[in-house]
Amino acid sequence: MVELIARLSEAYGPPGAERVVRSIVEEESRPYADEIRTDVLGNLLVRKGSPEGPRIMISAHIDEIGLVVTYVDEKGFLRFHPAGGISPHVLLGQRVRFESGLVGAIGCEPVDDIKNVKMEVLYIDIGSHNREEALAQVQPGDMCCWHRRLDQVGRRVIGKALDDRIGCAALLAALRRLDGKNIPNNVFFVFSVQEEVGLRGARTAAYGIKPALGLSVDVTGAGDTPAAKPLPMELGKGAAIKVKDSSLVCHPGVCRYLVELAKKHNIAYQMEVLPAGGTDAAAIQLSEAGVATGGLSIPTRYVHTPAEMADLDDVEAVVALLVELVSAPLDLSYINSL
Ligand code: CO
Ligand code: ZN
Repeated sequence: MVELIARLSEAYGPPGAERVVRSIVEEESRPYADEIRTDVLGNLLVRKGSPEGPRIMISAHIDEIGLVVTYVDEKGFLRFHPAGGISPHVLLGQRVRFESGLVGAIGCEPVDDIKNVKMEVLYIDIGSHNREEALAQVQPGDMCCWHRRLDQVGRRVIGKALDDRIGCAALLAALRRLDGKNIPNNVFFVFSVQEEVGLRGARTAAYGIKPALGLSVDVTGAGDTPAAKPLPMELGKGAAIKVKDSSLVCHPGVCRYLVELAKKHNIAYQMEVLPAGGTDAAAIQLSEAGVATGGLSIPTRYVHTPAEMADLDDVEAVVALLVELVSAPLDLSYINSL
């Protein structure tokens, strides 16, 4: 599991430029999938189970926060625009990597008012002497991401793009565990694009799949750090069953059904209420005439920084719950009655 999370987390994949990470996911899912296709936006759809069964869409996004080059100055320094929600403070002193493998350092000038650092004073330094030399390697419109390896500390991992490659790893692990089982539902594992810029991939994927049940698997916040605002989610306390975030209120029957499954199969779980932040579930829920949608999350510290931290036991709990969810015949009238 750690090797898989590392491979995914270390891969390059800003919003709209997910082909590297998509090819890794495709390679990892091919031996276990009944069908695989990539849609117009670039979502990877991995289908498994009975084609005649009720459709379940489970989404994890493959994109990560990135930076887009906007301008190359005469000295060869790159100005940029963020793709996704990122604080300028987090960028100070970091390294970024382009799809070509080119690495740059983030500089900040002037530095006199560090408390009020704005995106406008930050730049990427790729070691060029002038604009011409820089333009030979990078063009405006090129994107870069954090350049960081994954580390394991005890049962926890620290990585640059656990949001949401750790969710992708959970989907892939569930897919593998379902192999050889008789699955009564028609399950679509969707590795969605452009979540960080507005849940865009999940929106069109849901429209195309028309699921009876929708679920997103993503990271969420944690309230267990020294001066954190009180939150019900903690690292290592199990799969977080989403009730609400700032993008959606989950279908109450789906929430209760997930709790019931967790209790029945002795899977550690906790409830998730996230005051700020959204996920693919919101786009799935509002597709067509509406979809019964829930979310499973992995509590994560320092989300949208290059040092996101999550607990492997929570990932295992999410995988176990996913396997139970798709293995049981889907009964929507029962879920609605809960
Ligand atoms: Co995110
Ligand atoms: Zn996410």
